[in-house]
Amino acid sequence: MPEPVIRAFFDEPTNTVSYLVSDPATKKAAVIDPVLDYDHKAGTVTTDSVEAILAAADEAGLEIVWALETHAHADHLSGAPYIKAKTGARIGIGEHIKEVQRIFRPVFNATDLRTDGSDFDHLFTDGERFRIGDREAEVLYVPGHTPADIAIRIGDAVFVGDTLFMPDFGTARADFPGGDAKKLYASIQRLLALPPQTRLFMCHDYKAPGRDDYAWETTVAEQRRANKHVREGVTEEEFVAMRTARDATLAAPTLLLPSIQVNIRAGRFPAKEANGVHYLTIPVTFKKDAHAS
Ligand SMILES: [Fe+2]
Repeated sequence: MPEPVIRAFFDEPTNTVSYLVSDPATKKAAVIDPVLDYDHKAGTVTTDSVEAILAAADEAGLEIVWALETHAHADHLSGAPYIKAKTGARIGIGEHIKEVQRIFRPVFNATDLRTDGSDFDHLFTDGERFRIGDREAEVLYVPGHTPADIAIRIGDAVFVGDTLFMPDFGTARADFPGGDAKKLYASIQRLLALPPQTRLFMCHDYKAPGRDDYAWETTVAEQRRANKHVREGVTEEEFVAMRTARDATLAAPTLLLPSIQVNIRAGRFPAKEANGVHYLTIPVTFKKDAHAS
C-alpha cells in the first residue's frame, strides 16, 4: 500500500505546523491541527492559513474527511470549524478533552459549554483505529503536556502533537492545568518504543539556537539518539526534575486565554452577545495586594 502523502503548513506567528495527510488511492484526506489566524491586539480573525490548506487540497483533488486535533492547544485558535464548514469534515479529538473542559469551564465561566465533549464530532479512545480512505490510522493516548493529548499514526508516520519537539529543542511544557511531567515521560517512552525508522511529525518548531531553518520531521531513532531532554539513558526522575525546573521559568503563551476558551468549544467562539458581537473572556487575577481598596 502506498504511503500517505503528507504536506506541512507552517504558521510562523504561532510556530505551529498543520498537516494535510491524504490517501493517494482514494484521495481522502485529514487535516491535523489547523490554525485560525487571530490577531490578539486587534481582536480580528482571518482564515489565510486554513484557506491555504483548503486550496492545496482542492488543487490535488482531495476530499477532506477529518479535521483532527492532537489536543486543546494553548498557543493558537483552531481552524477546524472553518474546515468543517467548507468541507463537511468531522472534527475529532481525544476523549480526555472532557477533563480539559471540566478544568477550564469554571475558569472562563463558560456556562454554555457542555463538558461531555459533544462540541466535537468524534472523541477518540486509546488504540482506536479509523480510516482515511483506504488508509487505517491509529490513535495513541499520550497525556502529560495536557490531560488529553493524542498522537495519530498513519502508515509509517506519527503526528506527535506536543509530546516531542525536534531533538535539538526537546519537549513541550507540562505545567498547564492537568499537565504532568511524569505522564509526559511515559507517553514519550511509548512513542520512542515504535520502530526506529518511524517518521515523527512535530506540531511546533521554534528553531533551536544555532539552527537557521524551521524543521518538523524526524524519526524515532533520531529522537532516541539525540533529543536533548529525553534521549536514551535519561531517567524519569531526571526528566521530571528538568521539566519542572524549566517550566517554572516559562511565561504564559500569548494566546493562552483566547485559545483555550475557543479550543475547548471545538473552535467555537462564545455566542454573540445582544449587540451581535463575539467576546472573549479574560479572567483577571489580582496578585497579592494588587486591589487598590
Ligand atoms: Fe500544546
